[in-house]
Amino acid sequence: MTKKQLKESCEFLLNKGFEAPELGIVLGTGLEKLVGHISDPITAHYHHIPFFPLATVEFHFGKLVYGTLESKKVVVMQGRFHCYEGYAFSDVTYPIRVMHALGIKKLFISNAAGAVNLDFKKGDLMLIEDHINLQGGSPLAFKNVADFGPRFVDMSEPYDSQMMEKVVEIAFKQHIKLRRGVYAAVIGPQLETKAEYRMLKILGADAVGMSTVPEVIVANQLKLPVLAISVLTDECDPDNLKPIHISDILKVSSETEPKMITLFLEMIKSL
Ligand code: HPA
Repeated sequence: MTKKQLKESCEFLLNKGFEAPELGIVLGTGLEKLVGHISDPITAHYHHIPFFPLATVEFHFGKLVYGTLESKKVVVMQGRFHCYEGYAFSDVTYPIRVMHALGIKKLFISNAAGAVNLDFKKGDLMLIEDHINLQGGSPLAFKNVADFGPRFVDMSEPYDSQMMEKVVEIAFKQHIKLRRGVYAAVIGPQLETKAEYRMLKILGADAVGMSTVPEVIVANQLKLPVLAISVLTDECDPDNLKPIHISDILKVSSETEPKMITLFLEMIKSL
């Protein structure tokens, strides 16, 4: 990754009309419908954007959508890149750098995650207050990282406290149950064993998933305030573990999506 590549990616998007977005949004698995609320959308498929990671077949449909949500200019990633697809950490986070270079001032992230905290139930939403990186690598571990920001990034408050307060208030007003907790990121794509779920609980995780943490690390390097919310799609009870199928995960996330959309739209209104 070079600054020149980043500039070319941005120029391509600017030529398509991606002018001065205020907010970037990353939509997680089964959480794509927010895009339908965007007015005057302009779309750029990932495989057309210069220097974007080369999309796998599955992510052929991944796209960046620019437009207006609640009278704010936004750029939305419909589909994200995961390390389990074989991408490097720097690939997975390249779109965050592009959205930042386009001018976003804040970043919202959603994902699907398993509930490690057994007080939490599938179909609940969880505000990510902190995280544990168990992916065995960093999106800041590359030679020329200093061209893009500091190398030794502070992570004492990776999620923006003002936006967290605001979303808690909104959830209360909208009668949406919003849990709060620690998200642990693993590589996947296999789900966890019983012993691994036990370990995650001991480590202090409330939820586990396969994304988000690389993007949040890069957002912190870029000093972009982040709000991140998980949809809890399955309950990870090591003493009573039932087989988890990806189709169940997708079903729960799409059923829970309307609550996520309400929170995001109300948050955008409040910005
Ligand atoms: N583990 C890891 N990732 C996940 C899970 C899980 O149980 N559920 C949804 N994403």
